[in-house]
This record gives sequence, C-alpha cells and structure tokens, in this order.
Amino acid sequence: MMAEAVTEHRDPEVMYVGMDLGTYRASVTASNGLRKTVVSVVGWPKDDISRKLLGKDMVFGHEAMRHRLALNLIRPLEKGVIKFSDDSTLASEEEIELYKEAAKEIVKHAIQLARDGSTETVYAVIGAPAQASVINKQSLIEAAMEAVDSVIVVSEPFSVAYGLDMLDDALIIDIGAGTVDLCRMHGALPEEGDQVTLTTAGDYVDELLLKLIKENHPDAQITINMARDIKERNGFVSDTNDRVVVRIPVEGRPRVIDITEECKQACRAIVPPIIEAVGNLIATYDPEFQARIRDNIVLAGGMSQLKGLDRLLEEGLEEFGGGKVSRVDEPVYAGADGALKLAYDMPDSLWKELK
Ligand SMILES: Nc1ncnc2c1ncn2[C@@H]1O[C@H](COP(=O)(O)OP(=O)(O)OP(=O)(O)O)[C@@H](O)[C@H]1O
Ligand SMILES: [Mg+2]
Repeated sequence: MMAEAVTEHRDPEVMYVGMDLGTYRASVTASNGLRKTVVSVVGWPKDDISRKLLGKDMVFGHEAMRHRLALNLIRPLEKGVIKFSDDSTLASEEEIELYKEAAKEIVKHAIQLARDGSTETVYAVIGAPAQASVINKQSLIEAAMEAVDSVIVVSEPFSVAYGLDMLDDALIIDIGAGTVDLCRMHGALPEEGDQVTLTTAGDYVDELLLKLIKENHPDAQITINMARDIKERNGFVSDTNDRVVVRIPVEGRPRVIDITEECKQACRAIVPPIIEAVGNLIATYDPEFQARIRDNIVLAGGMSQLKGLDRLLEEGLEEFGGGKVSRVDEPVYAGADGALKLAYDMPDSLWKELK
C-alpha cells in the first residue's frame, strides 16, 4: 500500500472526505475545499413545545449544548469509541441502539455540512483511536455507511502523521477529549507495538478540575461544561502563568474566585502517563534510530493547546535522554486533512471493493 501512496487516484465524480471522528468534535476536510467541524453531540427535542421552539427534530453541536435543557442530549463517543460498543453488558439494548443512532447522525451531519451538491458519491477515510478494537471499528463503519458510499477506518495519529508527511522516525501524540493516542512512525504502516492509547485526556482533566474546584469551593455552582470551558480558556501546565480568576455562581450570585492551582493541577495530570508512554515507545525502538525519533515528537489534538505543554514534556523526557517536542499548526483539522490525503492516495479499486 505504501508504494501506491505516491500517486493520487482521484475520480472527478466522487467527493473524497477525510474525517476525524472525535469524542469531542467531528471534523471533516473534503475534496471540494470545504472544512467543517461540529461538536459530537446530538439532541432530540424533549416534547412538542421544545420541537416548536427549536424548529427541528434534531439539533447538533454547540446549538444542542446551548439548548440542552430542552433536549435529550447524547454524546455518543466516549474514550474515542461509540459508547457501549465494546462492552454491551453495560447498557440495555435500547440504549446501545440509541448511541449507535446518535453516532450515525453525527457522521451524516458532518458530511452533509461538507457537501456542496456537485457530487453524489462520497468516499471517506475516518480516523479512529489507535487501539480501537475490531468491534469498535466495525461499529464506526456501520455508523458511516449510511452517509457514505465507501469507507476506510485508520488510526487517528497515523492520519495526522500522513498529513504532515512525517512517516519516518516520528512520534505523534494526539491529545483529544477521550484519549491520548501515541503512534510511532517508521516508514511503514504502524503495527500494534507502535501504538498506545491512554484514557487520561481532556475529559479526564475536566472531571478532575470540577472535583478540585468543588473541594476547595464547596458552595460554587459549577458544571462539567463550565469546567471544560475554563480549561479551554485558561488551561496551562507551566510554573509561571497569569492567575486564573473566574466568575462562578455561589447561591445564585456570581462570585470571583481564583482557581490557578486547581487549573494547573488538573491540566498537569495528563503529563506523567504521556512521559511514561513516550519513554517506552522510544526505549523499544531500534537503537540506531532512537535519537531521530526523540527529536521528532509532535503534539496534535485540542488538548495540545494547553499553554506550556510542549516545554513540560521536554523537561519530563530529560530523564529518558531528552527530546524535542513541537505542535501541529492546526489542532482541529490536522487529523481530517491527513485522512483526506490518505483518501486521495488509496487506489480506486480498493474503494470499489469496500462498497
Ligand atoms: N484552547 C484549548 N486549550 C486546551 N484544551 C482545549 C482547547 N480547545 C479544546 N480543548 C480540549 O481539547 C479536547 C478536544 O480535542 P480534540 O478535538 O482533538 O478531541 P477529539 O478528537 O474529539 O477526541 P478524541 O480524539 O479523544 O476522540 C477537549 O477536551 C477540549 O476541551
Ligand atoms: Mg481526536
């Protein structure tokens, strides 16, 4: 397959789509030039009143979050996969179906956003977490098949690497909401031992931040969405940072509180597992090439935007012989762009086979 990768196989009748189907957001880059992103939640109106108010039967993304009190809201992906798809003993059959349905609608919606009406046929490459099991991959394929004509599921950090042309002696760390996906690139398709998935990612930080704020400010009325918002605006891991001061309701009235320490502690929690995983991936790499991979560590994903993260990881890596860490320019679209590049490079015969 790598030999094929040098030529593009574009069919003018087909819209090619690269999708990063994330726990937090689904982003697509399409061959018509459009790039779209939507927060991976879908809501159905709770009753006739809310249906009338919203003027539709289904609401997605930020709009759904804004009206969450009027909706049955579902965020179908958790830890990078469709919730319950790997362990069906955790929920009722009805619930499992609902989550699958929600994932399907999000894929459909994201593709719909990228359509411009010029072509009917859609071929998609979808990025999924590095270690998604066969069952999980199958449920992603099922979710996509209603919206596309042919689909290939690849590992998410691999699509990031492919998009950046970093196929050789590089280590990609994609830090999302549900998972941190690490992938070692050695000039061929990554194998099992090249990939690690950690679940200490963005959602984990949000929950920890919420817990810490509640512990230190028991009267503060704060939700998980507020904690995430605080993290996105202020998240940092360095020792020096401006104070993080927020307004949070206490008994219904806004109060100004300083949560600098809580914020730092919660954001820093993702660092030790990443350092350990990187250390292992380097140590088990061919010794001749260890120095090169060390100097080629790239952060992607929404959480890569935490202030000071690249430097703190470099500090932590000193114990393992050091390393150079950089960030991708576009954390939201790096995965989708890479997936589209892969879509172009797949031979047409393969797409037809998968139909
Ligand atoms: N500016 C920011 N600073 C820090 N974190 C951010 C920022 N913007 C978004 N995030 C966080 O990044 C995470 C989402 O990243 P991303 O969009 O890469 O995830 P995803 O691909 O949907 O998730 P996954 O890959 O785990 O399935 C969320 O936890 C979000 O709160
Ligand atoms: Mg992701």
